[in-house]
Amino acid sequence: MLAYRHAFHAGNHADVLKHMVLTQVLRYMVDKDKPFRYIDTHAGAGGYLLKGAQAQKKAEYREGINQLWSRPDLPPLTADYVKLVQQFNLQPGEDGQLPVLEKGMTPPLALYPGSPSIARMIMPRSDQMRLFELHPTDARTLAAHFGGSRSVQVINEDGFGGLKGQVPPTPRRAVVLMDPSYELVADYGKVIATLREAVERFAEGVYMLWYPQVSRIEAANLPKRLMALAPKGWLHVRLTVSQPDERGFGLTGSGMFIINPPYTLHQQLAAEMPYLVDALAQFDGASYLIEEQPA
Ligand SMILES: C[S@@+](CC[C@H](N)C(=O)[O-])C[C@H]1O[C@@H](n2cnc3c(N)ncnc32)[C@H](O)[C@@H]1O
Repeated sequence: MLAYRHAFHAGNHADVLKHMVLTQVLRYMVDKDKPFRYIDTHAGAGGYLLKGAQAQKKAEYREGINQLWSRPDLPPLTADYVKLVQQFNLQPGEDGQLPVLEKGMTPPLALYPGSPSIARMIMPRSDQMRLFELHPTDARTLAAHFGGSRSVQVINEDGFGGLKGQVPPTPRRAVVLMDPSYELVADYGKVIATLREAVERFAEGVYMLWYPQVSRIEAANLPKRLMALAPKGWLHVRLTVSQPDERGFGLTGSGMFIINPPYTLHQQLAAEMPYLVDALAQFDGASYLIEEQPA
């Protein structure tokens, strides 16, 4: 039974962190000018209407992307990510062409791109994408987003089970994004088991795992368990924006754990995270952490 729908959360602080880091990892991969495969084990719907009923329910984007939308002082990585989201918000004109985003012009924030759409905006069209999404409705929406593209496969199956069939890819270059909903506590164990098997099969792959900062022992222990899976190097970045509610619950922040990160990433994030903390803070104790085991 899948109750989680990403439309309720699109563009929130967790999406900001995840998609900003994803953008930079993919930029690094594209810079090498060799084809690679993007594998998204929990891909979502590909794009979200922020004015739709689901996104409006708690309007989480207001404390996320909305806080960055029109700021003139964005640092480079954040500006790069925000520009992609702005590009996604541009509608084609009568000639079918997208308008050019003039300097200083900001379109209204109406849409938010999911991870596959961000990847597609960065990767060459000919590079392969494999997108797993278990929810049938979101899988259909995702397939409609990428309809007709021969380099993209939308797979309406379990992404944990499906990853081992995708690695190693040919040629042997890939970025894997694993972004479960953690709706079931079993997801924490599945993350570890799935990544362990994938790293054994394809040690040089770049694996990016998102996890929630919530009051659960499984979430708190996850980074330590992931470190043991990454003999060649890892990077862990976490952004805390709020406190738990009065019952001790809530998504207070989130983290990204990257196995085989670009060597440039630590320095780039160190320059950027203080800005994100300041822009997205919901309480005085907002903070970030970056730790790394270099290759
Ligand atoms: C956090 S959302 C993904 C958001 C997306 N990666 C993005 O950044 O835009 C998690 C998605 O995983 C889907 N899902 C849940 N369990 C799954 C599974 N075992 N395999 C594949 N997809 C799953 C959910 O339906 C949901 O759309």
